Amino acid sequence: MDKRAKKVLVTGGAGFIGSHIVDELLKKNYEVAVIDNLSTGKRAHLPDDISFHQIDIIDIDHVENVFSKEQPDILIHLAAQISVTDSIKAPYNDGNINILATINLLECSKKYRVNKIVFASSAAVYGYSESLPILESAALNPLSFYGLSKMCAEEYIRLYSELYSLSYTILRFSNVYGERQNSQGEAGVISIFINQALNKEPATIFGDGKQTRDFIYVKDVVAANVAAIENSLSGTFNISSNSRTAVNEVLSTIEMVTNTEMRRVKQPARKGEILNSQLSNKKALLLLNWKPKYTLVKGLKEMLKNENNRKA
Ligand SMILES: NC(=O)c1ccc[n+]([C@@H]2O[C@H](COP(=O)([O-])OP(=O)(O)OC[C@H]3O[C@@H](n4cnc5c(N)ncnc54)[C@H](O)[C@@H]3O)[C@@H](O)[C@H]2O)c1
Repeated sequence: MDKRAKKVLVTGGAGFIGSHIVDELLKKNYEVAVIDNLSTGKRAHLPDDISFHQIDIIDIDHVENVFSKEQPDILIHLAAQISVTDSIKAPYNDGNINILATINLLECSKKYRVNKIVFASSAAVYGYSESLPILESAALNPLSFYGLSKMCAEEYIRLYSELYSLSYTILRFSNVYGERQNSQGEAGVISIFINQALNKEPATIFGDGKQTRDFIYVKDVVAANVAAIENSLSGTFNISSNSRTAVNEVLSTIEMVTNTEMRRVKQPARKGEILNSQLSNKKALLLLNWKPKYTLVKGLKEMLKNENNRKA
């Protein structure tokens, strides 16, 4: 890092992934400011003394005030409408937050000369792919408005970068899990199972449970964001474990690490759900100076240890 601590503005910094990124940036002595409207995030996820702006990123005047006050060197943009189901039910809202508000942030980044933008994209931009693992060069065929709005935001970032020489890193996360993830609504399967295990409830499995996902622990995602801001290269990278784990196997691993035995309740398979998902992480390994450190077992153990310490 430069001698002068760089200032990082994190949108969605009170959320699950964002708050872990903020913790790490503070540990590394970056100056940090956060924008979040607390629609899903929590103020309690952040230190009391952080520069916190409770605003909506769709509100350009408020966003511009923050850029003018904070003068960030780096923008990490995570704030988003994150529900696939809600994107189908309410495409205007999804497009407003994920596309139009991203343009607000890009306009401000241009005006206030931000050096680097890191954007949280998703495996959802690929949609269904016949060949796995999916490379960054694969065709983008999103199956939801969420995937489409992330894809559009990516394209806006690339074009802003070309037109105005903004440096950027787009990170396409696979299925992220870890402490502070919401276990309500359309949450990650891991946080739902852990919540069910700790509450001694049966585990809900949709379909036969043989569907696979590529799970990545939140601390590995944090490390990828830090690598992105410490790397001058512009580009798009999958951030994943590059492995596939079946939902049934996730559940038995959770039973093992929580030392519980859970009853299974089967539900019909969810319509339109992709059967298998795996993102190649070779490009990030090669160019981003990043490597995932957590296997599923190690990530789950770390997650439970931290949750227990928090409650103690
Ligand atoms: N969790 C995953 O598995 C995963 C996978 C791929 C991509 N992502 C992306 O990572 C990012 C963070 O996701 P997360 O899982 O931490 O979700 P999250 O809901 O915990 O975090 C999103 C944060 O953005 C804030 N926010 C939402 N709309 C806002 C608005 N209009 N203005 C200001 N703040 C707003 C929320 O309050 C929340 O704190 C998102 O962009 C998401 O699409 C997540």
